[in-house]
Amino acid sequence: MRLAKYIAHAGVASRRKAEEMISQGQVRVNGRLIDTPAFEVDPANDQVEINGILLYPEARQYILLNKPAGYLSTVTDPFGRPTVMDLIGDIGQRLYPVGRLDFDTEGLLLLSNDGDFTNQMLHPRHKVPKRYEARVRGRVEPAELEQLARGVELDDGWTAPARVELIKYGPNETLVEIEIHEGRKRQVKRMFEAIGHPVIHLVRTGFGNLNLGNMAVGEYRFLTSEEVNQLLALAAGLSKTTDSEGKT
Ligand code: URA
Repeated sequence: MRLAKYIAHAGVASRRKAEEMISQGQVRVNGRLIDTPAFEVDPANDQVEINGILLYPEARQYILLNKPAGYLSTVTDPFGRPTVMDLIGDIGQRLYPVGRLDFDTEGLLLLSNDGDFTNQMLHPRHKVPKRYEARVRGRVEPAELEQLARGVELDDGWTAPARVELIKYGPNETLVEIEIHEGRKRQVKRMFEAIGHPVIHLVRTGFGNLNLGNMAVGEYRFLTSEEVNQLLALAAGLSKTTDSEGKT
């Protein structure tokens, strides 16, 4: 969030007055003098001081949403389509989706105002695993599942090894669980396209140690501090994946 907006939101001054104070050199962020009103701050982590007075930081919030299909994982949409923010309503703080799910993908989406947390979750080096249930066209043979698990070539390169498990065969379709730790655009759909079985329906069922469980579609809940710490530990390579009950 822009510094001037943050100060205005904190109730200290109007947006215009905040801009003036910043330009006049009255504001420090993490101890450094900042004179640009558009400077980006992380409301949950940065320390903002005005004339030596430290503003009380925003409480960090972490939400797990079971995203329905037909919603964008963005804060706003220039075309007025529904976004996941419409499902959260006003919780007094501005949250942002932690990564993206496609418009037609359902399932586990995190939202937070903690920029550090978001970076930890999304950084490719941290390899936080994401689990999906994909209902795909046709019968996926075991050899094709192995191919997915080893890696397939997409137009942006080979995919890293994945965990792939057959759930069941249906009439001319297959339900597959796949766990990946990369976060490329439309990755799961492109992986199944690459083996000739386009995705009919995609649900993200797990993210790191979190599982959707039996949350209804469209429902959300706040994460516990234990869950947040487990995710951070996982991203830092301190723990293996565990589910919400703490089982490995
Ligand atoms: N992979 C996809 O193809 N789509 C998503 O929404 C998430 C992962």
